[in-house]
Amino acid sequence: MTEALSRRRFLQAAMLGIGGVAAAAVGTPIVAYLLSPFFRSPSDVWRDVGAIDSIQVGETTEISFEDPSPLAWAGQTAQASAWLRRTSDSEFVAFAVNCQHLGCPVSWLSDASLFMCPCHGGVYYADGTVAAGPPPRALRQYEVRTRAGRVELLTHGLELAPS
Ligand code: FES
Repeated sequence: MTEALSRRRFLQAAMLGIGGVAAAAVGTPIVAYLLSPFFRSPSDVWRDVGAIDSIQVGETTEISFEDPSPLAWAGQTAQASAWLRRTSDSEFVAFAVNCQHLGCPVSWLSDASLFMCPCHGGVYYADGTVAAGPPPRALRQYEVRTRAGRVELLTHGLELAPS
């Protein structure tokens, strides 16, 4: 009776041990993969957002680009956007779409030459400065450059961990 009992306990302990090793072997890489973005410091990335001639002088248009620090499972949310304005033959300005009040996406009204925020009535001029409403400061701007006939934006990754 005690021999059968100790054999049973041995088999239970062996099965628990094997199960634990198998779970660790499978789970460790998965957990490491899921947590890795939090320990990687994102770098700034220049993103190609289109040809110079795709936008006329004085025109403002919405552009999209991939966030430089997307999580592996981000899917469509890895896409970010900005408002690109051509101010001269060779100069561009890019504004973040997020209102500086509480972050709602602003819209460009070309007829009025204003950015409008639908959440609390924030209004910005075409140069991104505040025209009316609660926003405390101008729209955030991206650094823009032109290279080989293309427009590029300097995008910044999200700070997920202290660096
Ligand atoms: Fe834009 Fe409040 S979030 S005005």
